[in-house]
Amino acid sequence: MSKFSILIVGAGPAGLIMALFLAKSGIKSRIIDKDPNFHTVRSRGFGIQPRTLELLQTLGLLPDVQAAATPIPTMRAYKLPGGMDPVKTWDLYEKGRVWPDRPHANGACLQQSTLEEIIRAHLARYGVTVERSRELVEIKQDSDGVTATIIYTQTGGKEEVRVEYLVGADGARGPTRKLLGLTFEGETKDTDGMVWGDVEIEGLGSDYWHIWGKPGHFTRTHLRIMARPITPGEKKFGIGITGLNFDPIELADETKTKAFIREQTGRTDLELGQFSWLSYFKPNMRMVNKFAEGRVFIVGDAAHVHSPTGIDSNLAWKLALVLKRHAPPSLLETYTAERLPVVAQMLLATSALYTHTIAKAPKAEKTEPENEKASGWFRWRNTALEMYGINYRYSPIIFTEGVDRAEPTLILEELRARAYEGYEGSGTLCAGDRAPEAPGLVLNSEAGNKSLFGLINPAMHNILIFIPHKKAIATLEGIAAAVVAYPPGTAQTFIFFKDHETLGGRNGFVDRDGHAFAAYLVKDDCRIGIVVVRPDGFIGAVVGGVEGMDRYFRTIFWHTN
Ligand SMILES: Cc1cc2nc3c(=O)[nH]c(=O)nc-3n(C[C@H](O)[C@H](O)[C@H](O)COP(=O)(O)OP(=O)(O)OC[C@H]3O[C@@H](n4cnc5c(N)ncnc54)[C@H](O)[C@@H]3O)c2cc1C
Ligand SMILES: *[C@@H]1O[C@H](CO)[C@@H](O)[C@H](O)[C@H]1NC(C)=O
Repeated sequence: MSKFSILIVGAGPAGLIMALFLAKSGIKSRIIDKDPNFHTVRSRGFGIQPRTLELLQTLGLLPDVQAAATPIPTMRAYKLPGGMDPVKTWDLYEKGRVWPDRPHANGACLQQSTLEEIIRAHLARYGVTVERSRELVEIKQDSDGVTATIIYTQTGGKEEVRVEYLVGADGARGPTRKLLGLTFEGETKDTDGMVWGDVEIEGLGSDYWHIWGKPGHFTRTHLRIMARPITPGEKKFGIGITGLNFDPIELADETKTKAFIREQTGRTDLELGQFSWLSYFKPNMRMVNKFAEGRVFIVGDAAHVHSPTGIDSNLAWKLALVLKRHAPPSLLETYTAERLPVVAQMLLATSALYTHTIAKAPKAEKTEPENEKASGWFRWRNTALEMYGINYRYSPIIFTEGVDRAEPTLILEELRARAYEGYEGSGTLCAGDRAPEAPGLVLNSEAGNKSLFGLINPAMHNILIFIPHKKAIATLEGIAAAVVAYPPGTAQTFIFFKDHETLGGRNGFVDRDGHAFAAYLVKDDCRIGIVVVRPDGFIGAVVGGVEGMDRYFRTIFWHTN
């Protein structure tokens, strides 16, 4: 066995986040990429969804991300022909619509290459660097480990790497999935194609995300041309050309694309410079039938395209616990069990979005342009993109105590069907849900305040203990005694008191503005509220005492008694 227990194949966002998560949990992995260079010019992904910002926050990346990110530009569509008169101006996410429990609801724009650079810089602090020009070509595995064959693409060298686990983060076209023999089911929109690229444009303002293409205008093709300013005040734009029954395969050519844009938008005044990146895609919506085979796992685009997420940390913490021998290998089976329904629902949601934004376009022509709900335009009011609703309520390793919290009437299949849909407005919070943020937490009687996401540590389970009244204080001793019996470094506790009066002279946080008690639905008259937040930011358990908490952890850790 090499000195590394994990090999990560692919250094895109999924592989890098995996490596960082593991590093923070004390596991140093080896990460390779066949590409000799870091991704630089390709803008590819740029939209960071609210939920992803939360994950980046718990991983300590948010300050760097915020310093480099820009707000999502307001969108503006123009009348055709002419291409100059605005017909509609709107925001992807309603601006300023943030709540104490969802502080990043506006999302952000950041070039994927910049995000990757930020993650690499953080990884370097843990002594992890990406090995480039290393291509995975073969995988063999047995009950003890995995042997991966890697070729050095520049020198022609070859290496066999022996590890306990392999994570394939090698993107939609990577070999891991194929080497495992997993299926990649879904659909490719054969009649449609898209062109994306980055180019400098003279004569176009950077204040809007410009869109041309009145639905139906191009008869049956419903073409749409988009120009998104990459940095406010600068001339560089991310170009997108999409359409229904429109396949611009011949356009992945600079001269033709430039002419096409000027012609079709009617903006012959625009001067387009050199493309720093130009590419043709087919819309793809596919997923694997399972996310693992033996000791090999797949994450990111290797497991599912076209998803708006890209980043997920369901696997990393489980691998860390298993490698440290704190949890049985069977915990790893819950990666597929938890994620598969989410990704299946996500694909349904993204294809609905695709249909809604592109295919349904003709219908929109008949409605008032101001009627956002009915229009086929890009207002993704669908909460799917925000991903707050992703939940694992059907998971075999979560535990909700007390029927008033759970939804006992729903059978497993129904819960799975709602894995992505969310429970917004239903006023429930169960194990399996996203742990909400809560600002205004004051430690003891100190000045200043913290927010929950600033406290929780992605390298461990975070046990939130809510003390609604003085009677509950007596329970604390028993909880502390239970927690010290858990494997070292796997759990930490935070105690939240309803008010200063309850806190007395004790150690803990006062929920100054009541956000934490409200978001976690802790009632004034409950015995005590205990919420176990998993390292990935999902709620593992919602319980009313030490017995429930113990029951949850017995399903996670090896049980000796
Ligand atoms: C035009 C476009 C726009 C997009 N916009 C958005 C957006 O706004 N928001 C969003 O969230 N997502 C967006 N996406 C999707 C996003 O880019 C992907 O989801 C993301 O890149 C997936 O990350 P990944 O790490 O799984 O894979 P990738 O980023 O594809 O990385 C895989 C890596 O594996 C390496 N690799 C492949 N094979 C091997 C091998 N055999 N050995 C070693 N290394 C290998 C590759 O070189 C590559 O570096 C967009 C995608 C495109 C194409
Ligand atoms: C709470 O903390 C935030 C972030 O540090 C700060 O901006 C805010 O002013 C603080 N509020 C109070 C009342 O201390």
